[in-house]
Amino acid sequence: TIMDQLFETKQVELQLAKYLGIEKCLIAKGDSSQQTKVVSSFGEMVNESLATRLPDGKNVIAVMGGTTMAAVAEEIGQLETEKRHNIFVPARGGIGETVSVQANSVSAVMAIRSQGEYRSLFVPEQLSSFAYETLLQEPSIKEVLTLINQANCVIHGIGRALHMAARRKMSESEILMLKQHNAVAESFGYFFNEKGEIIHKIPRIGLQLKDIQNIPYVFAIAGGKDKAKAIHAYMKNAPKQTWLITDEAAANEILKGV
Ligand code: BG6
Repeated sequence: TIMDQLFETKQVELQLAKYLGIEKCLIAKGDSSQQTKVVSSFGEMVNESLATRLPDGKNVIAVMGGTTMAAVAEEIGQLETEKRHNIFVPARGGIGETVSVQANSVSAVMAIRSQGEYRSLFVPEQLSSFAYETLLQEPSIKEVLTLINQANCVIHGIGRALHMAARRKMSESEILMLKQHNAVAESFGYFFNEKGEIIHKIPRIGLQLKDIQNIPYVFAIAGGKDKAKAIHAYMKNAPKQTWLITDEAAANEILKGV
């Protein structure tokens, strides 16, 4: 029956959260790498989690990019209330994605759909360090960076290392280095090995991995059988307060011990 199925899913969610050592897992039916409707379920779960968890007052929500995040954004609904106001910002400067899945775009879509506000961070990808330093002195950029540092919520995807390196057109020598260090996972511009150790970082302004440790509401959104290994690796050192929103395909694979 449906009740039995729900009960079973809840059991697996508890089991997976315990196995990964994080606060909570939510599992959608199916395999998100095969069925787009599973990614929409992630979006509904994120929306509901934000609606129930975000406290009253001002919230600063830092988001990352990626195809999962872009699809999740489309499911966000009204999150503003009389007492609660949300400002969406990109978590870090651009790390090489097409416009529609950039953090700036995801943040704007989420803000518009939830009736909140957003601020964009415009930092070109390729800059000399001189230009970079100058840009950081710009008041409009400083203002957004200050806001990013006040984030009390972060929402991000998790990717497979080499897949992300190729998508971001990283150089051959960088890809070789990732291979030599057995990179398996990537999240917000950091690359991790199977033990969840950082082996490479794309230097960008904005939130750094260590900052996320102290942020109360952290959501990681990733699913699909092929991402199981990446999710597992990333979670080894993920902040304990992380909520993972994933699917059955990834959950079953992780629990099998990939
Ligand atoms: C990137 C995020 O934009 O998307 C990463 O910075 C994540 O955190 C990646 O690894 C995942 O992408 P996708 O398209 O698989 O959701």
